[in-house]
Amino acid sequence: MSERTLRRRTRRSPLRRAALIGAALVVMGGISAVAAPTVSNASPLPTEVGTGQQLFIKNCSSCHGLNAQGVTVNGTVIGPNIQNAGAAAVSFQMSSGRMPMAGQQQQSRRTTNTFSADEIKAVAEYVGALGNGPGLPTSSQYDTTGLTAEEIAKGGELFRTNCSACHNYAGKGGALSNGNYAPPLTGTGVTNQEIWEAVRTGPQNMPVFSPTQLSDEDARSIIAYLSDVNSAPDSGYSLGGVGPVTEGAAAWIVGIGSLVGFALWIASRGARAR
Ligand code: HEC
Ligand code: HEC
Repeated sequence: MSERTLRRRTRRSPLRRAALIGAALVVMGGISAVAAPTVSNASPLPTEVGTGQQLFIKNCSSCHGLNAQGVTVNGTVIGPNIQNAGAAAVSFQMSSGRMPMAGQQQQSRRTTNTFSADEIKAVAEYVGALGNGPGLPTSSQYDTTGLTAEEIAKGGELFRTNCSACHNYAGKGGALSNGNYAPPLTGTGVTNQEIWEAVRTGPQNMPVFSPTQLSDEDARSIIAYLSDVNSAPDSGYSLGGVGPVTEGAAAWIVGIGSLVGFALWIASRGARAR
């Protein structure tokens, strides 16, 4: 259809002209609707958004902000700034199922993690690259194979010095002030990597232990000690774990038991003698 015929036809019919304008508006509307997301975005996302960033935006940004800068509403921190938390902190929080946090809680709890190892690594690396927090450990930093009994015993000593005040000296966990608690470290499925990450990133009320306070060797021996405690058979462990009380009770029962037995024996002798 040539321009002239079009003009002639539209001139001929006002109705058709209205229809044409309507159609044009619909087309324009369609175009602007398609174009809208990129046009109206204040800070346009790079065309290539990595998996880590995508997962972060979907699962974490509502509380931590689009750039992990944190979200505060009316003075209440919905989620802290985690730009310098480090890949290790993200990995710990996600693999222990603490993050994404389920709504507002006083203390995020260990739950079942629903992300794959690759997804966690992607988010951890994305957040890690935003700041200068501790990076992901290599497996040699938390792998405990080949540690000697002596090194494991040293891990026990280091645990009692540095960790037992909060986690109990048998790793059974304990209450802290303000209704918070240090979770048990045995029988809950805590992984070696999570122990390393917790030590280096200090989640919530736990202090950060820097490599000058606890070297990587120290951290490994603590990890080895904890897995040793974890794999110990329950009966023997609780006797050793509860220590003086059980041992005292055992001594008391055995001691009194033999005294009673001795008394009965004397009594029976006496009866026969009479
Ligand atoms: C419902 C809100 C909410 C969501 C969703 C959420 N977080 Fe959090 N996050 C918090 C709060 C509150 C804290 C601080 C309290 C705490 O550590 O238990 C926190 C703490 C953290 C920390 C610890 C910072 C530190 O100092 O060690 C990291 C890391 C973290 N979040 C990562 C994530 C990641 C990654 C996601 C998404 C997979 C996520 N969060 C989703 C609320 C949230
Ligand atoms: C001042 C108290 C305190 C000390 C000391 C402390 N922790 Fe913790 N720890 C905590 C708290 C509180 C949490 C829970 C953090 C949370 O809920 O986000 C925790 C969490 C952990 C976790 C995560 C457990 C889980 O269920 O996911 C590990 C592992 C851990 N600590 C290991 C250690 C080790 C090893 C040491 C010693 C080197 C240590 N902690 C020293 C308070 C402490």
